[in-house]
Amino acid sequence: MALTGVLRPGHVALRVLELEPALRHYIDVLGLIETARDDQGRVFLKAWDEHDHHSVVLREADSPGMDYMGFRVDSGHSLERLARDVERSGLATGCEWIAAGEHPRTGARFRFIIPTGHAIELFADKDKLGCLTGDRNPDPWPDDLRGMAPSRFDHCLLYGDDLDGTVRLFRDVLGFALAEEVVAGPDRTMIGAFLTCSNKAHDIAFIRHPEKNKFHHASFTLDNWGEVLKAADIISKKDVSLDIGPTRHGITRGATIYFFDPSGNRNEVFSGGYIHYPDKPTITWTDNELGRAIFYHDRKLNDAFLNVLT
Ligand SMILES: [Fe+2]
Repeated sequence: MALTGVLRPGHVALRVLELEPALRHYIDVLGLIETARDDQGRVFLKAWDEHDHHSVVLREADSPGMDYMGFRVDSGHSLERLARDVERSGLATGCEWIAAGEHPRTGARFRFIIPTGHAIELFADKDKLGCLTGDRNPDPWPDDLRGMAPSRFDHCLLYGDDLDGTVRLFRDVLGFALAEEVVAGPDRTMIGAFLTCSNKAHDIAFIRHPEKNKFHHASFTLDNWGEVLKAADIISKKDVSLDIGPTRHGITRGATIYFFDPSGNRNEVFSGGYIHYPDKPTITWTDNELGRAIFYHDRKLNDAFLNVLT
């Protein structure tokens, strides 16, 4: 196995103001599948091509935003090693083990607070329910999909203050690569970091921001540009709050559209990008080309897109 250690984003836990409208959004509009509810009132969902039990966790709360994001690692051995490395690095605070079973059908999770203030988890065990097309002679897609029907949860973009510390933790301790960075000013201060633990252009990304622990979006994968356009149709058809798009990012090359859940959490569905290999040099964007970097077609900075956070 060439891909080792941290394998992929495994789940994102989001706070919503009211559960029922949120479920109508995440199930009927986005197209996720409910797999469980627990005695805390949390709802667990997955996308159709994911094997793991869940990738999105929703809970009702007084304010929207992200509680935590979890990454699957390749083994219990790697989980213990990475937990030890994170604690020893001195870059994380609040390190704790969450007992197996606290998420349904999921093993122990190691949780820590990264320098930008976000709670990140690592886990090695989560039951595989299987994807909707199965593993034997599968069809390319299943019947009865709803809404945008992304194949999987892909990444989050998070905002926080100590970008340098967070990038150091992800690169030096967790083994991520810096696929792309945005630098600003004469001293080329890093203001954006797009990090990958895989062959994807990014698995998590961060923007430097004065406040800790802010959430910009959770993103889900579509197959192609046609599906991004269909997502735009669904946004109008279902009267969903549109943020921006359909368009393309310069950064990561993704074709994209952004919209909000009923609580104001931003979602993205996107397709494309490029293949990242560990020996690929980091792409650098400079702030004089920031418009093109973010929205390649209209090349203009959009204040609401950059600054509306939960
Ligand atoms: Fe994104």
